[in-house]
Amino acid sequence: MAGTRTLSKYWMLTNDFTQNPYPVLEHVRNESPVSELSMPGGGRAFVVTRYEDAKAALADPRLSRDIHVHYRLMSERTGQTMTPPPEEANHLANLEPPRHTPLRRAISFAFTPRRAEALRPRVEEIADDLLDRLAGQPVPDLIAGYADPLPVITIAELMGVPADAWPDFLRWSTALRTYSPTDGSGVLDRNIQELSAYMSALIAEKEREPGDDLLSALIHADPERRLTSTEILSTGFALMTGGNDTTASLVGGVIAALLTHPDEREQLLGEPGRWGKSMDELIRYVSPISNALQRVTTEPVELGGVTIPAGEVVVISVMSTNRDTSQFPDHPDVLDLDRHKPAHLSFGFGIHYCSGAHLAKVITEIGARRLFERFPDVRLAVEPAELRYAQNVVVRPLEALPVRL
Ligand code: HEM
Repeated sequence: MAGTRTLSKYWMLTNDFTQNPYPVLEHVRNESPVSELSMPGGGRAFVVTRYEDAKAALADPRLSRDIHVHYRLMSERTGQTMTPPPEEANHLANLEPPRHTPLRRAISFAFTPRRAEALRPRVEEIADDLLDRLAGQPVPDLIAGYADPLPVITIAELMGVPADAWPDFLRWSTALRTYSPTDGSGVLDRNIQELSAYMSALIAEKEREPGDDLLSALIHADPERRLTSTEILSTGFALMTGGNDTTASLVGGVIAALLTHPDEREQLLGEPGRWGKSMDELIRYVSPISNALQRVTTEPVELGGVTIPAGEVVVISVMSTNRDTSQFPDHPDVLDLDRHKPAHLSFGFGIHYCSGAHLAKVITEIGARRLFERFPDVRLAVEPAELRYAQNVVVRPLEALPVRL
């Protein structure tokens, strides 16, 4: 196929790539920016690595995020009829217009910049509580003990989940990230069922007794705007699956970046207003989303000189776009807090642009700032080169971040 060059078959799925992806991505961007990747279970995907191609792909309605389109393709490829569970099939992130539009409108009130700002004091309390628990440990792991629970608790609370269920939410969130529908273990299904049963009971309770929270607002919305109970349940799943791992990956990544960039850390801590201005550069540099924003072509589509047939999986490598010199000409591999308005794609682009972007920035700023304010001498307990990234095609979390406080 014109413009496509075959690299090592599973190049994006190897551990070497996970640990050090940027040289490989630079090579791919230069040599075959829309390239084919074989999937271990059979089948293939087209990987988009250049910034402009990625933006065009994300704005193109012929590239679908509809989960039914994805499952149809998986069924064709495996020869087994597969249908998405209702919890995954009825939320905004997995649907296209027309249904996407009212589903997105229904939650938009909860994710305005003003609302995100109003959550600051509560996020600080949650961060401080978690730091209290780490204080006595000789070598605490800031991923398991801090970056992972901080967004889970914040988002659970935003939805109106009471505190006694937060440990379960953390467990469910970890399972949703760790297991896949095709791994044969059944663990994902079991956790989806448990979370679904819990959320259904919670929704029934809030129907009777509304609280000041997002689920209650959805349940008691005006009749013409009201979502079905399945859609409300599914939206809860979207917020958990969309918000937890992504934000945890960013919080951990930003803390690790600042532990290894003392000058930048000084700048941020010396001038609190600096966090807001520098957050997009931190997000570009850390790239919490790794390779996958996934789409399926519903018609043949030309991208970067390659014609991708209908019915193909397209993977957009956000991590690659964040280091593309055509968009970030000055040393894209460097963390430069003075970089002028870095328009990264870590929150996506187009109609599926992240609903929780403001909230994610607030959680990340507070998560990093409170750690360094509370423990000014915090330092890595291992060499930076020993830090390992977890293998995951969607997000790019560190496996662990051991520190001395
Ligand atoms: C650093 C943290 C985050 C990152 C990097 C991130 C990234 C993204 C990206 C890239 C998309 C678009 C997906 C696509 O086009 O395929 C997206 C969508 C979405 N995100 Fe986030 N996200 C983050 C945090 C959050 C949070 C905290 C929430 C809510 C609690 C959230 C809720 C959503 C929802 C609901 C969508 C779907 C929007 C739609 O389909 O219209 N995200 N996110």
